[in-house]
Amino acid sequence: MDVYSIRKKFRTLYKRDGVVYTSPGRINLIGEHTDYNGGFVLPGAIDKGMVVEIKSNNTDRIRVFSMDYDESCEFGMNEKDAPSKEWAKYIFGVAREMEKRGYKVSGFDAVFAGDVPLGAGLSSSAALESSFAFALNDIFYLNLDKFELAKIGQATEHHYVGVKCGIMDQFASLFGKRGHLIKLDCRSLKYEYEPFDPKGYKMVLIDSVVKHELASSAYNKRRESCERVVAAIQKNHPKVKLLRDADMDMLREVKTVVSEEDYMRAEYVIEEIQRLLDTCEALKNGDYETVGKKMYETHYGMSKLYEVSCEELDFLNDCARKNGVTGSRVMGGGFGGCTINMVKEEKYEAFIADAVSSFKAKFGKEPKVYDIVIGDGARRIA
Ligand code: GLA
Repeated sequence: MDVYSIRKKFRTLYKRDGVVYTSPGRINLIGEHTDYNGGFVLPGAIDKGMVVEIKSNNTDRIRVFSMDYDESCEFGMNEKDAPSKEWAKYIFGVAREMEKRGYKVSGFDAVFAGDVPLGAGLSSSAALESSFAFALNDIFYLNLDKFELAKIGQATEHHYVGVKCGIMDQFASLFGKRGHLIKLDCRSLKYEYEPFDPKGYKMVLIDSVVKHELASSAYNKRRESCERVVAAIQKNHPKVKLLRDADMDMLREVKTVVSEEDYMRAEYVIEEIQRLLDTCEALKNGDYETVGKKMYETHYGMSKLYEVSCEELDFLNDCARKNGVTGSRVMGGGFGGCTINMVKEEKYEAFIADAVSSFKAKFGKEPKVYDIVIGDGARRIA
């Protein structure tokens, strides 16, 4: 990312210098759609993110310039001042959520830019929320801890973007650590850093370039299905508050009560929570073959039970299997975006060549390929 251009723009617009922060996008090895069900996730921050230069301006106005959209936006701090530009809603939302929690955010000037591909399932929006949450916390001395900042980003999605997401993306963006995945228990919020460096394997993302539209209500509908199943199970088992607390026996008990679709959704989630635990065990033993098998199982579940895959992603998954890739699956919310692949080094080149050419032949467009580097979370950089 070009920090120099950001600084130059900031100086041109506001005739002074600010402080520069960054917050990254994320990958997730396994544990998808488990976060809002109180289960586990296993994300890591990536080496791509959002960079923001910022300074308080002693007014009650927020003035922001997006380098990527080449657009500026100015707004106030009250609910009636909400900007109409989509990208600005994230920033307004973060400021509002801080205020709602009793933390005073004054006016500020900012310029920001990012290199997280948009709509690829790499959480560019969490990177944006987390970069501003981290920056505002610092420049206004709010003393919020990183969990609170993550919750502010999540609440921004809920209230200003309309996606009822879990905590994973904002958490990973804030807590990321180079060379490590983070096993987060989304119910207790306890987490552990797990060193991740599968020797002899490469981790690579293949972007179907189908833009996923999380906000398009399909994501929220999945969540509602899970909540309906919990409500049904609760009648027999009052202690069950989230699907994390349920098992397959409990689910079977309500098979005739819930819709077939809701049943499939819950089945996927219950299995996925267990799959993550099995994967962590395999990782501890350096058993990457089992890790890979679990990734394929997740893909199957996301495609056939949770139904958040699409033709392009299923094609990339088949292509991985055909090329002897150890593990492959759709990553993130789904409905487009990337597959995450764990491939033996010696198979890497042939796999990528085949994935790119056969995808192009079938869909008439080239998928993008990103090698994964696990980087650090939010921080000040200048
Ligand atoms: C999106 C959401 C996350 C999580 C994933 C699916 O990225 O923002 O909270 O639910 O989808 O695992």
